[in-house]
Amino acid sequence: MLDINTIAELEKIRTPFYLYDMELLRKTVDEAVLMAGRYGMEVHYAVKANSDSRILRYIAGRGLGADCVSGNEVMFALGCGFPAEKIAFAGVGKTDMEIETAVSHGIFSLTCESLQEIQVVDSIAGRMGVRANVMVRINPNIDAHTHKYITTGLDENKFGIPEHEFDALAGLLSGCANINFKGFHFHVGSQILDVGEVYSLECERARAVVAFFAEKGLHATNIDLGGGLGIDYRDPDAHPVPDFEAWFRTLQEGMSSISQEGCVRPSVHVEPGRSLVAQCGSLITRVLYVKYGVNKTFLITDAGMNDLIRPALYGAYHKVENLSASARDCGMKTYDVVGPVCESSDVWGEDRPLPESVRGDLLAIRSAGAYGQVMASRYNLRDFAPSVYLDRLCEVPDSMKMVKLA
Ligand code: LLP
Repeated sequence: MLDINTIAELEKIRTPFYLYDMELLRKTVDEAVLMAGRYGMEVHYAVKANSDSRILRYIAGRGLGADCVSGNEVMFALGCGFPAEKIAFAGVGKTDMEIETAVSHGIFSLTCESLQEIQVVDSIAGRMGVRANVMVRINPNIDAHTHKYITTGLDENKFGIPEHEFDALAGLLSGCANINFKGFHFHVGSQILDVGEVYSLECERARAVVAFFAEKGLHATNIDLGGGLGIDYRDPDAHPVPDFEAWFRTLQEGMSSISQEGCVRPSVHVEPGRSLVAQCGSLITRVLYVKYGVNKTFLITDAGMNDLIRPALYGAYHKVENLSASARDCGMKTYDVVGPVCESSDVWGEDRPLPESVRGDLLAIRSAGAYGQVMASRYNLRDFAPSVYLDRLCEVPDSMKMVKLA
């Protein structure tokens, strides 16, 4: 919730922009760090959720590791202060150049997603005269009960190695001279709200996988259970910080009975992205026009699907608030809030009850800190929306100052 003075400062800035509440980020990371300590989890932040450099530097400074999905993310994470020994690199399609980059920096692990990739990593590491740290991503065939596009752990998904290849995998790993096998990785999907059920099942599968390979002489020293903890898009102010305790407790309980004969217990890692950064970001936009359609009234904003693609791509719900109206006394109306892009899917929300809105009003599209700015494009040759930080409004440069609407 923003106060009147802050809103007055925001009114002076050219829209659209991403507004980051670093204080909420701090609280969220505090809670994650506290609970990780309590339940014995190693946390790697999933950089893909938001790679704003101030956010990355902050998270690195709090001692978290990084989970990356491209060579560029690995290099950027290193530049923002994540130590190489805390960087994991996953992804089904790593290029040879990306593998060389990761191996040459001696990162915590390359998370390999196919038998062929393991062979390629082994041969590249051999050529470089080093041993590559490798985790193996397993496809556990678990339904995460989330959107189809962000479900990753089912047989029909491209991610991880399926059970029918386990024997071949064991044989292959035993013969790779240039690979330092570190353990297994799982990730079943994103925006998971069914924490108890989905993650208990994931742990059950993880335990079975570890036991299967231990019998074949392959002992995991690390288990990575991925990310995926969901957030409250409907009511961000009621749940600004996700329930890390419930998530970590479920994982700890799920992994407590892990057994590998004669071996130390593996350390357990997680890779949250959305749950750490989603609620600290809002996309701030202005109402350009109020348009009266046949059956609907449209609020047309200056931010579009190129700035935040989640509603158009996944039909995702983001709460929309009228910040300017908080200083006025006005009634409520129902609007379709839409962007300016030439696509009918460029819609923030249909039939949204909002205070009566006028041209120039500032709107906040909430919970946009994860998979918002990072997924932006320049479609229609529109400009990228820059970052603004709530604690540094006085540092916004003149070039970003608002020119008054006609
Ligand atoms: N680890 C792996 C291997 C992943 O693929 C992902 C996300 C994460 C960790 C982090 O998951 P999180 O904690 O953020 O749920 N663009 C979509 C989300 C795509 C997630 C992709 N993988 C969205 O806007 O909902």
